[in-house]
Amino acid sequence: MSKALDGVRILDFTHVQSGPTCTQLLAWFGADVIKVERAGAGDITREQLRDIPEVDSLYFTMLNHNKRSVTIDTKNPEGKLVLEALIQKCDVLVENFAPGALDRMGFTWERIQELNPRMVVASVKGFGPGPYEDCKVYENVAQCAGGAASTTGFDDGPPVVSGAQIGDSGTGLHLALGIVTALYQRTQTGRGQKVLAAMQDGVLNLCRVKLRDQQRLDRTGTMKEYPQYPNGTFGEAVPRAGNASGGGQPGWILKCKGWETDPNAYIYFITQAPVWAKICNVIGKEEWATDPNYATPAARLPHLKDIFAEIERWTMTKTKFEAMQILNKYDIPCGPILSMKEIAEEPSLRKTGTIVEVDHPTRGKYLTVGNPIKLSDSPTEVKRSPLLGEHTDEVMTELGYSPEQISALRTAGAI
Ligand code: COA
Repeated sequence: MSKALDGVRILDFTHVQSGPTCTQLLAWFGADVIKVERAGAGDITREQLRDIPEVDSLYFTMLNHNKRSVTIDTKNPEGKLVLEALIQKCDVLVENFAPGALDRMGFTWERIQELNPRMVVASVKGFGPGPYEDCKVYENVAQCAGGAASTTGFDDGPPVVSGAQIGDSGTGLHLALGIVTALYQRTQTGRGQKVLAAMQDGVLNLCRVKLRDQQRLDRTGTMKEYPQYPNGTFGEAVPRAGNASGGGQPGWILKCKGWETDPNAYIYFITQAPVWAKICNVIGKEEWATDPNYATPAARLPHLKDIFAEIERWTMTKTKFEAMQILNKYDIPCGPILSMKEIAEEPSLRKTGTIVEVDHPTRGKYLTVGNPIKLSDSPTEVKRSPLLGEHTDEVMTELGYSPEQISALRTAGAI
């Protein structure tokens, strides 16, 4: 079966996490992704957080599936010529170097345009133009600068970063959308363009509801669905809301049977208004369905703490899965807190290809997260990540280099 991005060639000049997640998605959609790595060393993640000596780390393998790897020293004059040949052959160049690195290498936007005016040049940077534009940025810096950390955690504790890599993988996702959009526009204009996804912007985009809340707070001085209401105080900025729901239906994380020993014996429980009467029945507080202090969403807001405490008395008598089963019967929205171990072992995620087992020549079998975006006419087949420089000769041959030229370039240290 054909793939959505068949025929699209990506010069993948990315490293670490944000850029590689973007190009991995494009590869899963069928693009030919040629990862250019530094000769001899490669993407730094190949050797970071290793669990097996001398073997590409899971960090690297899980971010670089379905790609080809070539090693080029792009600071060597002859290596530069090889990169130029690749630029002429490819549709998209994706990079996430520190600001200015590509220019310093001699590949400015103008130079790339000269070489290939149809090329889309896509970049992840920490910040867009402004006071921090020259800064190097990693995941947690972006979470802090994009508004996630100041709004995550509990009111009486410090800012907290999320386990979800919204700065890196989140920005990679934003960039991938920018790239396919630019390719679509190119079908009309015939021209490439620059695509920039700044990590601060990507995180802020995902924190949109908190900017909503900032303006509600500015206007009214309070937010009734926040745990600070009615007894705590609000300051000038959106406070950390613990596990409160970010939407209009109040929710909280509640203990389930076994919580004393299992750190994940919890359930997320949403007191969705349309099923309030059913919630009252399930937890044995039938009178709350008609009591004017509890019957309407507005009346319940000042009592959310007590309400969740009462519901928790019920959830603590059930395991999270028993509670799920009962609550689902009544269409009460809830979700178990799943550990990574539970997720890794979940058969339904294996069935859909969201969790995939991959075989690797030096590592053996390992689990990875497959393509979370499912296209009915472009199924994803997850293939192992490439070894360093595994495809250098293959790609050089496709570029028209003879075996003699390839070996001379290798001797010169260009590849
Ligand atoms: N051949 C020769 N040189 C190469 C090369 C190759 N194939 N590939 C990279 N290099 C060089 C670059 O030109 C750069 O050289 P320069 O500093 O002399 O200009 C150098 O390698 C290092 O690149 P840099 O991006 O500065 O790496 P770093 O390890 O110092 O910084 C980051 C890492 C992630 C902090 C930085 O790249 C960054 O801020 N990126 C943008 C934001 C981002 O994506 N962050 C998330 C990472 S998950």
